[in-house]
Amino acid sequence: MDAKAPLLVFDSGIGGLSVLAEIRAALPQAPVIYAADNGGLPYGPKSEAEVAARVCGLLGRMSERYKPRLICIACNTASTIALGMVRDVLNVPVVGTVPAIKPAAGLTRSGTIGLLGTAATIRQGYVDRLEAEFAADKRLLRFAAGELVSAAEAKLRGALVDPAVYARAAGGLREQPGGEAIDTVVLACTHFPLLRDELQQAFGPQVQFVDGAKGIARRIVHLTAGQDFVRAAPDLALFTRAEDGLAKLVPALAHYGLARVEVLK
Ligand code: DGL
Repeated sequence: MDAKAPLLVFDSGIGGLSVLAEIRAALPQAPVIYAADNGGLPYGPKSEAEVAARVCGLLGRMSERYKPRLICIACNTASTIALGMVRDVLNVPVVGTVPAIKPAAGLTRSGTIGLLGTAATIRQGYVDRLEAEFAADKRLLRFAAGELVSAAEAKLRGALVDPAVYARAAGGLREQPGGEAIDTVVLACTHFPLLRDELQQAFGPQVQFVDGAKGIARRIVHLTAGQDFVRAAPDLALFTRAEDGLAKLVPALAHYGLARVEVLK
């Protein structure tokens, strides 16, 4: 194993930075390429076939070019749709992001859990299976909160976001039958932990949020145990499309230790 081989952390946009933060905390010495498919963002409204084709195609190209030691799909939408396919076609360990229903089921006291994800994520059989396996004795209410994805993208570009967006996400769960009993909310999209403070205000202090980032970091530590890491160059943020907004992201990327920005050729 080349000690300079990076971890490749992939998302449709900047959401995966919430996962990268936990990976950094666990493996500060690991070289990282953070790849954002901003050319395909958002994935939430896309069909399963479109998401699967993009994710498999891009990760194939990036693997050939950057020879990562491990790929982390830091995106619930991409993982719940395409994790199996990516593992079938790539000869690299792949860690996915799946909605944290299991820990939420262990934490809820009321027995009612909310789940915020993209439209594509909340309809996946993968989520049905997690619910059946870990939350069969709980009530799980789902809400597609795609507009939180653009809110997180705007926030990290330094733009102001209308707080009505957060109120709509909270209302989308609370106003469902039984929704007033929600005490635990699964943030089943990696963009949403970037809005934790805003969501906490919208839901109120009695609601706790759960996401999968720490578990993913633990899994990566386990899979890379015993490997050497050398960061030979500053870590790279890689985008699939040049856009004016990328310059506005530079401070946020630097905050996550990504000092170089490139567009995939
Ligand atoms: N960050 C992605 C997720 O975890 C989705 C955002 C998008 O709609 O592209 O689901």
